[in-house]
Amino acid sequence: MALTIDAAFAARNFEELYGYSPEGVWSAPGRANLIGEHTDYNAGLVLPFAINRRTFAAIGLRTDGTVRVASEGFHGVIEVDFGVQSTPALEGWSAYPLGVVQVLSELTGHAVEGFDIYLASDVPTGAGLSSSAAIECAVAIALNDIWDAGLSRSDIALAGQRAENTVVGAPTGFMDQFASMFGEPDSAIFLDCRSMDVRAVPLGLGDFEVLVMDTQEKHSHATGGYASRRKACDSAVDVMGVSTLRDITTDMLDEAQQKLDEETFRRVKHVVTENIRVENAVAAFGARDFEAIGELFAASHASMRDDFEISTPALDLAVESSLEAGAVAARMTGGGFGGAAIALVASAQVPEVMSAVTEAFTAAGYQPPLQFTVVPSQGARRDI
Ligand code: GLA
Repeated sequence: MALTIDAAFAARNFEELYGYSPEGVWSAPGRANLIGEHTDYNAGLVLPFAINRRTFAAIGLRTDGTVRVASEGFHGVIEVDFGVQSTPALEGWSAYPLGVVQVLSELTGHAVEGFDIYLASDVPTGAGLSSSAAIECAVAIALNDIWDAGLSRSDIALAGQRAENTVVGAPTGFMDQFASMFGEPDSAIFLDCRSMDVRAVPLGLGDFEVLVMDTQEKHSHATGGYASRRKACDSAVDVMGVSTLRDITTDMLDEAQQKLDEETFRRVKHVVTENIRVENAVAAFGARDFEAIGELFAASHASMRDDFEISTPALDLAVESSLEAGAVAARMTGGGFGGAAIALVASAQVPEVMSAVTEAFTAAGYQPPLQFTVVPSQGARRDI
């Protein structure tokens, strides 16, 4: 029988490991992004939702400045003495939870008095579903409670991003943390990354389900393609003399084409057109116009494949084979260079689409993707 990862599981394992009961258990979900990719760090629009897979953080208090962290997914207990060094060198997976401890302490001026942390998660890692934001937000919301720091959900999301940028070293935006903090059942989160307005958009999926197809091609945003895409966007901002790519309207695209090299222009074109697709998708979900959603997802995927160049042949195959088998909409989700694609599929057709995708992968000589459906769910919270 599959292991049930929940708050009680995290509390039990905490007690077994550390020999006393935790102060509490907090959790935060991963996310799937419906549309709006690589727009967050360009002050653009995004439409993610929190998924029904979460990271649980059981936390107990110490008084000696030592932070110990262990995780169901990794061996051993990592121990860091914040009492001796306020910014200890943090490496590997523990940089996510411990980076948040460090950043929250900096932000609130609260000294780290010490904790024991036990993490348990059913968010797959490296799948483009933001297992990292789930860890950051679970630990951050817990510390905000424990320290009575009074940070808002937006502040906590931004603290998670800061930990990822400065401690982990991945130059990511803040979409994932906002989805994890603001998620609501049956809804997507529409975030304007310029005004920072955030609003739940009821999805009314009805008989449709969101199928995740995780190619299991692992990616890291701390290195490689993600950072280089971000650099290209920043250089376009300089050349165009604007503050962010959000300031580039569609009628400025001709000018952009003249001023930018061919590749940078395509990066900009993706971002500008993706923002428009997000706005249209919000309207289409509101009207339950699944045909329009299918077209918007298709245009978004093509833009990521051809202009932003962050898709992979396996992600393309997941999208194409799910659509052929009857999905009404499909696109890769997340930062790209591996990870997952999502498809909107009528509930009754989910098994059929899943086996068609598996067959297509096997025929192409790829390892079949890990497939499961996800449900828009509640954001970060205290469970126990
Ligand atoms: C990753 C980052 C996000 C966002 C997406 C792409 O998930 O963490 O901030 O940039 O990629 O949309």
